[in-house]
Amino acid sequence: MSYLNIKNVSKSFGSKEVLSNINLDIQQGELVCFLGPSGCGKTTLLRIIAGLEQQNSGTLTQAGHDISSLPAIDRDYGIVFQSYALFPNLTVSKNIAFALKSLKLAKSEQKKRIEELLELVGLADHKNKHPNQLSGGQQQRVALARALALNPGLLLLDEPLSALDAKVRQFLRGEIKKLQQRLGVTTIMVTHDQEEALAMADRIVVMNHGCIEQVGTPEDIYQRPISKFVADFIGSINFFDNDQFAIRPEHISLSLSASEKSRAVEVAAVEYLGSFTRFTVKDEHGLYTVDIDSNEASAMAHANTLHMHWLNEHVLNMQGAA
Ligand SMILES: Nc1ncnc2c1ncn2[C@@H]1O[C@H](COP(=O)(O)OP(=O)(O)O)[C@@H](O)[C@H]1O
Ligand SMILES: [Mg+2]
Repeated sequence: MSYLNIKNVSKSFGSKEVLSNINLDIQQGELVCFLGPSGCGKTTLLRIIAGLEQQNSGTLTQAGHDISSLPAIDRDYGIVFQSYALFPNLTVSKNIAFALKSLKLAKSEQKKRIEELLELVGLADHKNKHPNQLSGGQQQRVALARALALNPGLLLLDEPLSALDAKVRQFLRGEIKKLQQRLGVTTIMVTHDQEEALAMADRIVVMNHGCIEQVGTPEDIYQRPISKFVADFIGSINFFDNDQFAIRPEHISLSLSASEKSRAVEVAAVEYLGSFTRFTVKDEHGLYTVDIDSNEASAMAHANTLHMHWLNEHVLNMQGAA
């Protein structure tokens, strides 16, 4: 039996349906990412799980209990919003103490629990600071400590890293993943960032226009996309022969001379991106993106015509895909 079961959940705002018939099972201890373009319904689905929004139809079951119409306050989760939503006038300790209020702990016990939580998120030395004295990444850790304060069965994260710069974001995603694994807490993270989802998720739920397009491990989703939308949204992809098949940019090779099955292309643009170089090449059917190891790319960077080829094993068959 799954830890969280979402069954036939639909939601409309006015006459606009934003979630249609969502079905999903999440296992105990999993980290699942809801991934999809802005406006596809990720936050709405998360808020329905939290009881902050009421579905129009469908049921939710958490740890064997029907929570479909349970008020938010009676549900078992901690949540981190994109904006962190810390109290600016309270210290880090007091922000966390606020989350512990319902436990009515003795002062010394509360202090101990706050210290434990700050230790957990690596902020033990910052307990007396106010949020405006912390970096964005540190504020995010406070929000995370607060969400974990009551040992929730479910941790809900809505784009928790999107306000941070790239370096911090990449560091924190590793930290969150480690913490999540250590605690074993079932976690749902909303993101529109495919790289973040690939790096962190046990399973990715790809959403589009209020529907689930595909559910799978990062490898499944990347290597076996079931639709053009998924193939295109997760990573870059080239479609060939009227979309009959597709190939990832890193799976196409280029060479200066033609070979048996190669296709001649004209070089439209060359972009050096550090470890790899991105070629934009074209033929009479369209443009293609090809990523070449920069060590091999330099010899071809000034060519006008190149020959592209690929291995059959890297061809993604898109026939019949939606
Ligand atoms: N409270 C609301 N009232 C009306 N429309 C809303 C409300 N919340 C979200 N929506 C609409 O529902 C759709 C899905 O929104 P949302 O779940 O926030 O998407 P995402 O998190 O994937 O960007 C959007 O078209 C959004 O404008
Ligand atoms: Mg959102």
